[in-house]
Amino acid sequence: MTVRNEKGATKTGKASLILFCATLAAIFLATSTLSTAVLAEEKKGSDKQGKFLFRSKCKECHWPEEEGGDVTPMTFTQAQWKSFFDRYKHKRKKDVWHDVFTKEELVHIKTYLINHASDSEQPETCG
Ligand code: HEC
Repeated sequence: MTVRNEKGATKTGKASLILFCATLAAIFLATSTLSTAVLAEEKKGSDKQGKFLFRSKCKECHWPEEEGGDVTPMTFTQAQWKSFFDRYKHKRKKDVWHDVFTKEELVHIKTYLINHASDSEQPETCG
C-alpha cells in the first residue's frame, strides 16, 4: 500500500512539474510575442534606407514608361501614403508586396514616403 502511494505521489509530482514548465513556456512565449508586436509598432523606419529602397526597388516598376506608372513621394499626401501602407497594401500588384519586400523594408519605405509626401515639409519629386 505504502509503495503504491509513493509511486502515485512521484507521478503526481512529475505531472505537476511538467505542467509548471509548460505554463512557464506559455508565459514566456506570450510575453515575447507581445513585446515583439509592441516593438514592431513602435519601430520607426529609416528615412535614408527608405529612400534607397524606394529608388532601387519600387522605381524599378515606377517610371512613367514602366508597368506601374510614375510614382514619387509626392504622388500621395501623408494620409494617403499611410492608408496605402496600412490598408491598401499595393492591391493592384499584390504579389510584389510580399515577394519583393520584407516587412522591415516596407517600414523604411513608408517612413521615407510619408516624410516627403506632397503635403510634407520636404516634398520630393525625384523618386
Ligand atoms: C514589380 C513591379 C512593381 C514594384 C516593385 C512596385 N510596384 Fe507599385 N505598382 C505596380 C503595378 C503594375 C501597379 C498597378 C498600376 C496600374 O494598374 O495602373 C502599381 C501601382 C502602384 C501605385 C498606385 C496605386 C495602386 O496600387 O494602384 C502605387 C502608389 C505604387 N504602386 C507604389 C509602389 C511602392 C511604394 C512600391 C515599393 C514599396 C512599389 N509600388 C513597388 C508595379 C510595381
